[in-house]
Amino acid sequence: MSRPFASVLAAVVAACVVVPLHGQVRERPIPRVVEKDGRYALFVDDAPYLMLGAQVHNSSSWPVELPKVWPAMEYLHVNTVEMPVYWEQFEPRPGQYDTTLINTLLAEARQHQVHLVILWFGTWKNGSQHYMPEWMKLDTVKYPHVIGKNGDAVDSPSPFAAASLEADKKAFGAFMRHLKAADPERTVIMVQVENESGTWGSLRDYSPVANKLFEAPVPPEVLSAMQVKGASPAANWQEAFGPEAEVNFHAWAVAKYVGQVAAAGKAVYPLPMYANAALRDPLKPGAPGTYESGGPTDNVLNIWKAEAPALDVLAPDNYTNDPAAYLKVLDLYHRSDNPLFVPETGGPNNPRFFFSALGLQAIGFSPFGLDYTRERAPADPSHPREEALTPWAMNYILIGPMMRDVARFNFEGKLQAVAEEQGKTTQILPFGSWNAVVSYGASNRGPAAGNPKPEGRALIAQLRDNQFLVTGYFCRVDFRPAGTEEQRKSQNIVAGTGQNPSALIDGKWQHRQFLRVEEGTYENGAFKFLRIWNGDETDYGLGFGAEPTVLRVSLATY
Ligand code: DGJ
Repeated sequence: MSRPFASVLAAVVAACVVVPLHGQVRERPIPRVVEKDGRYALFVDDAPYLMLGAQVHNSSSWPVELPKVWPAMEYLHVNTVEMPVYWEQFEPRPGQYDTTLINTLLAEARQHQVHLVILWFGTWKNGSQHYMPEWMKLDTVKYPHVIGKNGDAVDSPSPFAAASLEADKKAFGAFMRHLKAADPERTVIMVQVENESGTWGSLRDYSPVANKLFEAPVPPEVLSAMQVKGASPAANWQEAFGPEAEVNFHAWAVAKYVGQVAAAGKAVYPLPMYANAALRDPLKPGAPGTYESGGPTDNVLNIWKAEAPALDVLAPDNYTNDPAAYLKVLDLYHRSDNPLFVPETGGPNNPRFFFSALGLQAIGFSPFGLDYTRERAPADPSHPREEALTPWAMNYILIGPMMRDVARFNFEGKLQAVAEEQGKTTQILPFGSWNAVVSYGASNRGPAAGNPKPEGRALIAQLRDNQFLVTGYFCRVDFRPAGTEEQRKSQNIVAGTGQNPSALIDGKWQHRQFLRVEEGTYENGAFKFLRIWNGDETDYGLGFGAEPTVLRVSLATY
């Protein structure tokens, strides 16, 4: 994969760490999710790491398709690729495991110098059991489906099927055992357990076994996780939850099942693990039945946390095209008990929200289905295959070289990042004695009008009290001394109007001055000075266009 010299060098240096030792590869540390002061980081090689990811199409992990995957990943400048593995392929006959596919993925990912997130398409894939091996699909008595309210079988596996659970635990355990042995390099840094587990087309399982449990008292940990007040400890699901009884019940059953599969895998090889969710509308949630029931939707995250502690992350598949809804989803999954990770996303206007996710300390981000396996012909000029990829690639081209710093700044609580929101031309980001002022569509001396298309994004990290790292696209960034709330009202925030951004502090005007604005580039993970910006480049604030630009800005007041 062609890469900037810096990252090639970094990869070469990194590769040296695992040089064969007497024919053996020395083990790297196992990746892990670390929490400190309510903030999270994914540690890879013992340091915070940011997954700049992309997920391939569902049937793209097959060796025959990989030549159409890697060029797209290269164009996107990802550092991590999310690839499914398929239970039906891994265990074609009970207890017989086929490791050829995972071995190919490991070998090719290493060749292309990327990490992998492996998606275990096991009992559930988008609510169905389509990836169960044939020998299971053919035995629906032993491996039953959900039974709908009308008594008919639904296209979804029952979370109460003991034999299915045992089979999945065994297969996933075998998979993780193989991975542990085959991957001392830690090419695989995280594993998704199942895919969008839950059920479409029925709120829950109505089999006799399920019905009996539905009438039984709600387990105490669920009552406490959902903070149900005043319910008797003997309350059944209907009594405790009313109209939400069935979705909560199904979430309990599915979370328990997925949690046990994850725990079985983790017991063998403790890689970070997560489950992804098909979402419900975050702003106007419809009634149960309008969204997939049982998965880690925002309303049942507490149940999932209580029942599936082996999962490090519950993660939203964020596809909404409504900007307010998109941001709400990020907010709902960024919790003190849950790091934000967006394992699937899409939508033509959503690439900028990568920055919003970074502003919420995201540990990773990954648009879905951007490989070239669905292209008509690579050379078809009326259908340039890169067109849809470019806005996503821009994110990673900019952040890739500084990925370790960005992950570390976020873990240390020193970073803020935002994306343009329609109708909001200016955003203020407080950093102690400074406010960063991000504006969109600003002319030199006029007010900001917003970009014609909202595509602005900005990232600011505080290096010292008066020094910041600043980057972004299609925006302007300036700094203003921070005053008290009352004093802020009289601040002049428009740069270039004869006075630099200023604030009345303790009865005295304080004006921002740029001491030194350095443009740089990241080499070997460190900022390298290129030139000083001044004059037209700084007189109206710091302008960022479509070119990847990183500035180190030192400030003072006069
Ligand atoms: C969400 C699923 O998790 C993916 O596997 C894929 O089916 C996409 N939807 C399709 O858009």
